[in-house]
Amino acid sequence: MRNFRFHSSIWLTSSEPLYPEVIDQRYLPFEAHTFIIRNLEDACFAIREMVVRGAPLIGVTAAYGMYLSILDCSADDYNERLCMAQKALNDTRPTAINLYTATRRMMETYRQAEKGSDIAGLLFNEANRIRFEELDACRKIGEYGLSLILEISRKKDGGPVNILTHCNAGWLACVEWGTATAPIYLAHKNGISVHVWVDETRPRNQGARLTAFELGLAGVPHTIIPDNTGGLLMQQGKVDLVIVGSDRTTLDGDVANKIGTYMEALAAADNQVPFYVALPISSFDFSLTDGIRNIPVEQRDATEVSYIEGWNGKEITTVKLIPDDSPVANYGFDITPARLVTSLITEKGIINPDRDSILHLMHS
Ligand code: MRU
Repeated sequence: MRNFRFHSSIWLTSSEPLYPEVIDQRYLPFEAHTFIIRNLEDACFAIREMVVRGAPLIGVTAAYGMYLSILDCSADDYNERLCMAQKALNDTRPTAINLYTATRRMMETYRQAEKGSDIAGLLFNEANRIRFEELDACRKIGEYGLSLILEISRKKDGGPVNILTHCNAGWLACVEWGTATAPIYLAHKNGISVHVWVDETRPRNQGARLTAFELGLAGVPHTIIPDNTGGLLMQQGKVDLVIVGSDRTTLDGDVANKIGTYMEALAAADNQVPFYVALPISSFDFSLTDGIRNIPVEQRDATEVSYIEGWNGKEITTVKLIPDDSPVANYGFDITPARLVTSLITEKGIINPDRDSILHLMHS
C-alpha cells in the first residue's frame, strides 16, 4: 500500500483530549484506516473484533481501556467502574495473558494510589508505561535474537538465513519491532541476508495479510506459504530456524500461540530445525505449569472458517468456502509443549524452556 505512514500499532491522538489511536488491522493490507479508542466500549470492541490483536497490543489496549473507563464518573464510583471494566476487558479474548496482566496492573495502580491523588493521571501514566515497556522489550528481544541469526549466517558464509514464522508476531501485534520479527528486522538492518517463509495462518490469514505486509514495508525478502508447507520445506533443508511469538507461556515452558504453531514445532523437531519462541516477560503466566491442560484456548466464530475475506480489486469482500450444512470448528490457538521448544528469546536473554530458567527470569 503506497503512502502507508505508520510504524507503530498504537499511539496517542495529537490533540486534546488524548485518546489511544490504533491501526484498524481488519483492513490490512488493502486499506489504511485508524480507529480512535474513546471509551471502555471502544477498547472492548477493538480487542474482541480484532481491530487490534496480538498479545502485547491486546494488553496495551486493555490498559488504556481501564484508564478510559473512569473518565466520565465521579471519584466515588472509580472502584466499581474499574472492577466492571476489568471484567469486561478480561472477557474479550481468553488466551493472551497480557490482557489479564495489564488490567491487573492498572487495578493495582488504582488501589495503591494515595488518597486524594489524581487517579485518572496515574492510570494514564501507567498505560503509557505499559506501552513503552512493551516497545522496549521487543527491541531487546531483537538484540538477543539477532545473535542466533548471525551465528547461522556465519555458518552459511553469509548465505541467506531462512526463517519460518507463523501468524503475525510483528510490530502490528506489539507496539513496535514485534517479537518474532524483531531479530529479523535487526538482521536485515545490519545487512545480514535473511529470507522469511510466512505461513498464511488460516483462518484469519494474519501471516499472509499482516506479516507479509510488514516485511514488504521493511523490504525484507519473504515468501508466503500455505500452512501445510513448512514440513516439506524443512525436509528439503530450506528452513534454518523457526521463530514464533506467544500468547501465553507457562512456568514449565509450554507455549500457547496461534493454531498451527504446534504442527510447525513437530515438523521442526523431526527435522532438527531449531524452534524459537520470542516473547516479552508480560506473556508468561507464572501461575500455570501444564499448558495443555490449563491454558484456555479461544474458540472463534465459525464464519472465519466457512468464509474467506479478500480484495476484489475495488473493496474487501467475503466469499463462502464450504458446503452450506458442514459444521465447522475454529480453535484460535494451540499449545506447543516445552520439549519441542529450543529456547525462549526474552528481553532479559535467551533461556531454556524449563522451570528453573523461567523462575530465574521471573526473579531477575
Ligand atoms: O489471534 P491473534 O491474531 O491475536 O493471535 C496472535 C498470535 O497468535 C501471535 O503470534 C501472538 O500474539 C504473539 S504476538 C507478539
